[in-house]
Amino acid sequence: MTTGSMSVTPALAAQASQPRGDGGFEGVGRAHGKVILTGEHAVVYGQPAIAVPLSGVELTATVRADGRGMLTSSPFRGSIEDAPASLEPVVTALRGTADLIGMPVAGLSLTIDGDVPMGRGLGSSAAVATAVVRSVVDLGAHRGLRVPDAADSPLADGAPTADPGGRGPADRALHALVQQSEAIAHGRSSGLDPYAVAADGPILYSGSRPTPLRLAADLGLVVADSGSHGSTAQAVGGVRTLMADDPLPTRARIEALGQITEHAVQILAGRGTRAELGHELNRAHVLLQELGVSTPELDSLAAAAVEAGADGAKLTGSGLGGCVVALVNSAESAHAVGKALTTAGAARVWTSILAATPDGSRESRQEEAS
Ligand code: MEV
Repeated sequence: MTTGSMSVTPALAAQASQPRGDGGFEGVGRAHGKVILTGEHAVVYGQPAIAVPLSGVELTATVRADGRGMLTSSPFRGSIEDAPASLEPVVTALRGTADLIGMPVAGLSLTIDGDVPMGRGLGSSAAVATAVVRSVVDLGAHRGLRVPDAADSPLADGAPTADPGGRGPADRALHALVQQSEAIAHGRSSGLDPYAVAADGPILYSGSRPTPLRLAADLGLVVADSGSHGSTAQAVGGVRTLMADDPLPTRARIEALGQITEHAVQILAGRGTRAELGHELNRAHVLLQELGVSTPELDSLAAAAVEAGADGAKLTGSGLGGCVVALVNSAESAHAVGKALTTAGAARVWTSILAATPDGSRESRQEEAS
């Protein structure tokens, strides 16, 4: 078991470029994983959703102008020109950002290191795209290259990185690049993940806009990886087919998932109990089962978490594989639930305790047991 204690990644944290031995610079960008507490799939149809950062589960992109044009990542190592189609979203983010800031793309080499597992509903594709965009912006800042229209963005004061989830025109341009990369990776998407992997705390995503969510009490979550890969495009496509074939009940389930998010917002703000929130997570899991995106593995992990004392549990992200998230009320409960999930077959388990912070400064503790 590895144990760590850390703060949630600040969205606009300075990510200083590292001078290299040859006098050149490398640009560095980071992003973290995310967990959807409520609202996945429904958010594709305009319903609200809640996402929280899985900080400590992070990705780093490093870009250097070394003239070699190499891509180094866990699925592929070689010339960027020869990257497989599955890495097109990454190459698009690299080229799109370089084009935007006027940096020649030929000869840029990119390295991606990280800990956000792919295809597990934890936002890996958005995290990679965000880290890549940030790394290129960071490198560009050292060459005096700026994102255009930076008048009211964090870039205007010379900050070397930008938040793709921010509000200024430059941030919107960077956010659009991450969205473009996501569209290649997943097809139709709600736009939630690019904000969630860049946010420094829980967010409510509603009307295509993220807003920070206040927590009136600590929020304890245990996330377990079923170990199987889920395809977001396939899961979203399955729900779309269901909506076309059987619109009335499907629409009712999507709306019920939206109402669960609305209730969860009230509970997280202190107008409800943890037991009620757990009940809503259990309801959400059943609705997602009915939408056809759960699997026997996800069902048994969710059941094992509740059996071990979690207040509630559900699949998180697109489903058809991937992860479950369970609500716990203490570190002891997190430990017991994590153990039960490992016994039930989870490949990895993370615990995330987001501390209540009425004053707005949030902290989280992360712990991984494998
Ligand atoms: C993916 O993390 C969540 C889904 O709702 C898809 C989306 O929001 O684009 C399944």
